[in-house]
Formats: sequence, C-alpha cells, structure tokens
Amino acid sequence: MLHLGVNIDHVTTLRQARYRTMLDSPNAEPSVLQAALESEAAGAQSITVHLRADRRHIQDADVYLLRKSIATKLNLEMGNTPEILAIALDVKPDFVCMVPESREEVTTEGGLDVRAHFAALKPTVAALEANGTRVSMFIDPDLDQVRASHEVGASMIELHTGTFANHFGAEREAEVARLKAAAELGHSLGLQINAGHGLTTKNLPDLRAVPHLHELNIGHHIVSRAVFIGLRAAVAEMLDMMKTYPAA
Ligand code: PXP
Repeated sequence: MLHLGVNIDHVTTLRQARYRTMLDSPNAEPSVLQAALESEAAGAQSITVHLRADRRHIQDADVYLLRKSIATKLNLEMGNTPEILAIALDVKPDFVCMVPESREEVTTEGGLDVRAHFAALKPTVAALEANGTRVSMFIDPDLDQVRASHEVGASMIELHTGTFANHFGAEREAEVARLKAAAELGHSLGLQINAGHGLTTKNLPDLRAVPHLHELNIGHHIVSRAVFIGLRAAVAEMLDMMKTYPAA
C-alpha cells in the first residue's frame, strides 16, 4: 500500500504569522500537535516537518513535541548543517530526508545535488543511520543522483515531483518517463522510493505510471484543502486517491 506522509509545515506557517514572538501564549494557534493527530486519525502513515535553519515555520520545540506525542513515524526534513544534525541525532526521528536549503527560496525548489556534496553528506548519513534513523535523499529524477544516493549510504530516495506537477501535456509525460527510470534504477539498487513536492488530487493519477513508490510526502495541497473541508477530511481524500496505486 502506498503510504502518505503529511507535511504540516504550513500549519505552523499560519501560527508563526501571528504568534512568532508569543509562542508561549495560550492563544498561539493552530496547534501543530493537533494537526499531526488529525492526520494520523485520518490514516496518514507519517508526519513530516522541515526544521529550517531560519526557523521560518517549524520550531525546535515542535519537533520535540511531535517526537514524544505521535503514534506514527516522524520524518524530519533537513539541510546538512552541524546545528540541525545535532538536533536530529538528539530527536532520533524515524526518517530524515536530506534537502537543499537556501534562505531565498519560498519552498524547497530543486533536488539535492548528492554527487556534488558527496563528501559532506557521507558522514551525516552514516551518523544518522547508526543512530537508528533511516535516511532519504530528496533528488531530481536523475540517474546519477540515484546512484550517488545509493553510494552515499542512504536507504531511501524521495523523487522531486515539482517539475512533474508544474508541467502539463507532453512535458509532463517526459517527466513521468524520467521519474519511472529513476524509480526503476533506485529499486534495482535496493533503495526505498518515495516522492513528493507539488502533488495534488488532480495530478496524482498521472503518477500511477511511476513504479515502486512506497511513500508520498504531501503538504501544501492538503493544508490548502483543509481550509475548506478540514484537515482530517483532506488527508482522507488524499489517501482515498492513493488506494488505487498498484502495490509496490
Ligand atoms: N518533500 C520535500 C522534501 C519537501 O521539501 C516538500 C516541501 O516542503 C514536500 C515533500 C511537500 O511538498 P508540497 O508542500 O508541495 O506538497
């Protein structure tokens, strides 16, 4: 069965918009914990948060609270910096997804260049895996990046579906072909294949052509739908769409 990781960063984006300087206030809302629990109640298999260096949404305290409170898996997205690595080693999330990070970007804009940052990533991956955290590389569907992810010691890759999501017609078909090839190579190397970025109930049917997918990480669309139908219903709606994906 295809798993869903719900990215709740944007629930926190809303909280920070009003309460950034008053996080201890009893008025601070919406609750990141309640968002995680609602997602779990709807059937999500994991909760994903990105602790960014600039702390624009998720805060350290949110990560610790989720770690001790959720019943499903915690997936921490992070850039490869000593500061965030120290937190990840302390929190011991079930999964870490290594992502590129720059302060100027609105969201994670491209995949991580594992080949270029190989030497810096290798000890980070080794430290996390030795600490009981399974590590994923968020990469573009590029065959050399798949090979580099395997060589660096990751046990999973998350294929960046941003280009897939933002193109239509022949361009989307070409991107599906790239995703397919990357998923097939990754699977043959023994990697777990995940995917994420820009996925919606509308574009999900086109992703069915990509084999071996184990987990999708979805945030923006689910939180956007939640404004109108509630978070539990938005997660359930996505899971319902995902049910028809062929078993891996
Ligand atoms: N996966 C990764 C690695 C991401 O950085 C993001 C965006 O934070 C997502 C998945 C979710 O993307 P979206 O919010 O577009 O669903």
